[in-house]
Amino acid sequence: MNNYELKALGDVSGKNILHLQCHFGQDSLSFARMGAKCTGVDISEEGIKLAKQLNSELNLDANFVCCNVLDTSKFVSEKFDIVFSSYGTIGWLPELKPWAKMISERLKPGGFFYIVEFHPIAWMFDYTVSPPIMKYGYQQKEAIYEEYEGTYADANSKMMSKEYGWNHSLGEVISSLSEAGLQIEYLKERDASPYDIFPGLVKNDEGMFELPSKIYPLLFEVKANKKNRQISSLHFFL
Ligand SMILES: C[S@@+](CC[C@H](N)C(=O)[O-])C[C@H]1O[C@@H](n2cnc3c(N)ncnc32)[C@H](O)[C@@H]1O
Repeated sequence: MNNYELKALGDVSGKNILHLQCHFGQDSLSFARMGAKCTGVDISEEGIKLAKQLNSELNLDANFVCCNVLDTSKFVSEKFDIVFSSYGTIGWLPELKPWAKMISERLKPGGFFYIVEFHPIAWMFDYTVSPPIMKYGYQQKEAIYEEYEGTYADANSKMMSKEYGWNHSLGEVISSLSEAGLQIEYLKERDASPYDIFPGLVKNDEGMFELPSKIYPLLFEVKANKKNRQISSLHFFL
């Protein structure tokens, strides 16, 4: 786990956390180690199988569910203090309204959602050519299709990847969450990424990667709160 999310989430011990698109559960298991009760959700059968194996090898108590993240509420009925998503998740989803609705459904009143994600400007470029060219729309609705040698998990693999992804503007992220009933606490845009995933990044003094020009941000963070249910006694007196 990285500094952005550690700082944003604070002390998670004793909290119930839903980790969306958890891959093979690395961060879910870290949450469990920190004393949280974590449920990780991912569509990959292999990912969830490995997550469960690691969970039992490490004698931890995380829970893992294999499903489409958009269908989470069909498989998980529990409500959570924190719903968490990080680095490389929403780009796999064609639209965000059902995603935001599910997040709101799974949060307890008083709970919060936090996401740290690659910035939509960074996804406007075609990185299969050198130098990369700006090719895709900031709020493009159509899928972005790319073929390249290697996989996102293993750049040295000889496998051909065929990927469909979607670029989501910050406006779409914020609007979908607020339309689902969440209150936006903040939106922060960040120059430095913990991951060296775009060409031409340089390492800064903190060991993070950034564009030498810092001409656009590489990451964004959003924190959004689910309001506490409040029965206003004031109404009875008015
Ligand atoms: C880049 S990884 C996310 C890694 C993440 N930073 C983590 O916590 O380890 C993206 C994950 O999204 C999952 N995924 C993609 N589409 C999905 C969907 N519709 N529902 C659930 N998981 C999905 C993939 O299987 C993959 O594990």
